[in-house]
Order: sequence, then structure tokens, then C-alpha cells
Amino acid sequence: MNIGLVGSGGREHALCKALYNSKKVGKIFCFPGNAGTSKLATNIKVDILNFKKVLSFIKSFKIDLIIIGPEEPLVRGLVDYLKQKKVKVFGPNKYASKLEGSKAFMKNLCLKNNIPTAQFKICKNASQVSNFLNKCNFPIVVKADGLAAGKGVTICKTKKEAMSVSVEILKGKFKSSKKLILEEYLEGEEASYFLIVDNKDFKFFGTAQDHKRVYEKDKGPNTGGMGAYSPAPIINKDLEKKIIKKIVKPTLLALKKKKNPYNGFLYVGLMIKDGEPYLIEYNVRMGDPECQVILPRLKTDFLKIILNAIQNKLHKTIIKWKKEKSMTIVLCSKGYPGHYKKNKIIKNLDDINLTKKDFLYHAGTISKNGNILSNGGRVLNITSTGNSYFYIRKKIISIIKRLNWKDGFFRKDIGWKVIKNNENH
Ligand code: AMP
Ligand code: GLY
Repeated sequence: MNIGLVGSGGREHALCKALYNSKKVGKIFCFPGNAGTSKLATNIKVDILNFKKVLSFIKSFKIDLIIIGPEEPLVRGLVDYLKQKKVKVFGPNKYASKLEGSKAFMKNLCLKNNIPTAQFKICKNASQVSNFLNKCNFPIVVKADGLAAGKGVTICKTKKEAMSVSVEILKGKFKSSKKLILEEYLEGEEASYFLIVDNKDFKFFGTAQDHKRVYEKDKGPNTGGMGAYSPAPIINKDLEKKIIKKIVKPTLLALKKKKNPYNGFLYVGLMIKDGEPYLIEYNVRMGDPECQVILPRLKTDFLKIILNAIQNKLHKTIIKWKKEKSMTIVLCSKGYPGHYKKNKIIKNLDDINLTKKDFLYHAGTISKNGNILSNGGRVLNITSTGNSYFYIRKKIISIIKRLNWKDGFFRKDIGWKVIKNNENH
């Protein structure tokens, strides 16, 4: 069976590797992929938002199934388009993707269905913002309604700051939407819970904790994610029951009632406060870099799970996981998430010996004339697995040091919450 994989990040390299290891997979085609996927698959240079072009490649390469990694093509309706053209595709449709594509949609769904989340106000103009800011507590969270590539959320300490962030959004800083959400600031510990969902059922697909800030000690601006680990120890059985009952089930039921049942991976972004889960965000895909720590722990054949989901057979599917823990550290181009240089050669990549417990996933890389060059802000994800987060992190850092890439930087404190006082964790 020939598979098409849409996307080009570390998440897609991890998905590609899992597919490559699956029994039923014939050829894999990545749209457009990166230097890492080019070793396992055929990369196809194409604008993934040009649906017609994507379809023409699907036809010419006789691709049997398409799996979509990133949010933008999902939110823009690639699934609906391909299904109409009778292509088998895994991912949520345009309506269901509004869970990520419109924070106003997601928050209204929570309100109607009593799903625990921060209190909020949707604003369409400056006077609505100003009136709300006159009576709210600070800090307040200002969120752009539409997709914003991880840059749409600002935690504001004063009215002045909140007003200026809001005005920029209202003026159209993000092309996806001019609306914004003012949201109560929730204090607690963040964790992510993943599911795979079909029309009839859903199955657990791992937990993880991400590190969004660029610098150590969680300082500096937000990024797409500087590192992650799985499982997230804070999500115990009791909390999991609450997540399913109070958040997941009412959400999936609400979408079913709208005749748009959810299909695909669902990323539930949570704040845990006093043992209670609050929904911070939904993402309609696997996380990046969370996928790079979850897939190395998967025991069951990946393609088999996806095929079962497409046929609405998840209720008959048993998904098995390794007990081992997993961590990834993201190696970034110096300057990220601000301005950074591209096309910097990464030498030594073939010289670092990895064991079966280590994984080197490419993100922003490209191969040119036999060299591997950086091509983005987040460049490589070094993942390792084992029994102790402390030792896994040590191992990853030793691999990065062997790589010795002078144009890159990384956080050495990934997992600090689980490692801080207990080296055996
Ligand atoms: P989002 O894109 O909604 O996940 O927001 C990005 C990040 O902003 C989250 O991972 C949190 O760290 C933070 N954040 C978002 N909403 C809130 C909130 N209501 N209270 C506190 N922090 C938040
Ligand atoms: N790592 C956060 C995300 O994938 O949205």
C-alpha cells in the first residue's frame, strides 16, 4: 500500500519512520518532507495548500492513503477536498478542525457543553476589549481567534499591554481572523493528552509535556516547542477519567450532533489545577515535538491503527505501549524564534552512532549536493528512550555534543519538572 504523508517537520519524520516500520507499507511519498524523510521516502516538492496539485501527485504516484500532519491544510479543508475526489484520507474535516482553527468556536463549544475551561470573552472591536479589561483581573490572556503559528497567545500583566496586543489582532496581524479572545489566566501545570478518534470510538494515544519557552527556566518568548517527554507523570488514572468524562466525551458528542463526527488524532492541551483538568486548547493533529516522544513508545503496528481508524474499527483495536520513558530535545538555529540564518551545513550527522533506543528526527533540514543544510528554526529533534528521565536527558545531550553544530542551540533543562529533586525519575 502506497502512503502519502503531508508535512515537513520533525513530527512528519517521526510519522514517516513509524510508517516505514509498518508491515503493509509499500512506498511512502512526503509532501514535501525534509532531508530525514528523503532517506525513507520520496519527497515531493509541492505547496501543500494547493489541493489540486496535491491531488494530481496522489493520482500520478498511485497513492492509496493520505495522512496529514500539520494543522493548516486540515483547517483549510484538505480532508473534505480529497474525500470528495474519492481519496482515502486520515484526519478531521474542515468543520471539526475548527476546534483548532477557531478559538471562538472551541470556547463556545465548551460553554454550551459545560466543558471546564478558562472563562472568556470573544471581542470583535476595541470598545468590547476596553470594557472587559476595565473589570477583569490581571494577568489576562489575549488570544487570536484563528491560526497564528504558535504566536497568537500573549499573557498580559496590564490593561495597557492587553489593549495594544488586542489592537494589533483587531487590525489583522493574523490573516486567519480579526477576532480575539480575552481569557482568564489559569495557574497550574500543563500537560497534553492524545487520542485517535473514529466515528464510533476513540483510543488513548499517549501523554506528553512540552516546553514552549525558548530559554532555560521557561524564560523568553513562546516557540513551537523546545523539547518534550512522554509519559506525563501528572496524568494519573484518576485525572484521565476526568479528562475523558468532562472534556473528551462531551466534545466528540457535540461534533457528532452537528453531523461532523471527529476523525483523526486529537491533541488535548490541558492545565491541571488542584487535581482538576481545564481545557486550554485543542489541536487537530499530533503535537510537534510531542509526536517524536510518543511514537518511539508505540508497540502496535502504526499503519494498522490508522487503517482501523479509517474503517471505524478502533473499538476492536488494541494499542500497546512500551513502559519505557521517552524525551526529545530540539536543536534550533541560533536566533529562533526570531530571525535566524538558513542554509548552514550540519556536518557529522552520519558519524554519530545511535543505539536502537535513540532517534534522530529531522525538522528544518534540506539536502543539497550531498550536504544536509538547516532550513528552518527548529532543525533536529534528538529523542532517546529509557527508564530514567535524568539519564535519558544526559544521553541526548551527549549526542548533541558529538554533533557539535556551531550554528545551533538547545535547552539543557528539558524535563526539569520531573527531574529536579529526583535523579532517578
Ligand atoms: P494555546 O495556543 O492556547 O495553547 O496557548 C499557548 C500557551 O499559552 C499555552 O501552552 C499556555 O502555556 C499559555 N496559556 C494559554 N491559555 C492560558 C490560560 N488561560 N492561562 C494560562 N496560560 C495559558
Ligand atoms: N508542541 C505544541 C504543538 O504541537 O502545538
